[in-house]
Amino acid sequence: MAQISPSILSADFARLADEADAVTGADWLHVDVMDSHFVPNLTLGTPVVEALSKATDIPLDCHLMIEEPDRWAPQYVDAGARSVTFHAEAAAAPVRLAREIKALGARASMALKPATPVELYEDLLPELDMLLVMTVEPGFGGQAFLDIMLPKIRRARQLMDKHGLEMWLQVDGGVSASTIEQCAEAGADVFVAGSSVYGTDDPAAAVRGLRQQAEE
Ligand code: DX5
Ligand code: ZN
Repeated sequence: MAQISPSILSADFARLADEADAVTGADWLHVDVMDSHFVPNLTLGTPVVEALSKATDIPLDCHLMIEEPDRWAPQYVDAGARSVTFHAEAAAAPVRLAREIKALGARASMALKPATPVELYEDLLPELDMLLVMTVEPGFGGQAFLDIMLPKIRRARQLMDKHGLEMWLQVDGGVSASTIEQCAEAGADVFVAGSSVYGTDDPAAAVRGLRQQAEE
């Protein structure tokens, strides 16, 4: 079953509650947290996550593009995130952090930038509920999908199958009507989409369209 997680990075930050309502039917709402250190952009933190979690029934999928996730990620669970993704490149102790996130009651997920090989983390996969394979360099919405990441998505799914893991495989960056089918075919099952949802006149219809395409 394909799941769609619209990214509010491409929404109107002055109207976040309305923008969440605009994607009713989405499985998750993807919240990009950037600290202007791990990535060259700055977005929002726990106060906004907390307010948004109260304003919508859609579960929040927080993608932390920040330094020191070991220190900050648990606070995002407390703020209401139902899934928290930290970056492998930034985490000091990813196993301990994943266990802490799960103990607090959220799904634990780890993200890989395009240059980070999935094979490095094969032994850690059983600790995670989801792996995020970035299909752009993190930091900005609206970038072109990197199709050189398709083999990595495929290899990630093969490693999960090899270990008999039921975990989810998320893709984020440039996911649209023209790229989602290749991602699904490669083994992804959770799809983040920012500009291809919020850049349209009817975001809810865009979510339905993407889901349909991913499941074909
Ligand atoms: C980029 C963010 C993405 C971004 C995706 O660093 O992690 O979640 O919002 O935006 P699109 O779908 O426009 O590439
Ligand atoms: Zn993201």
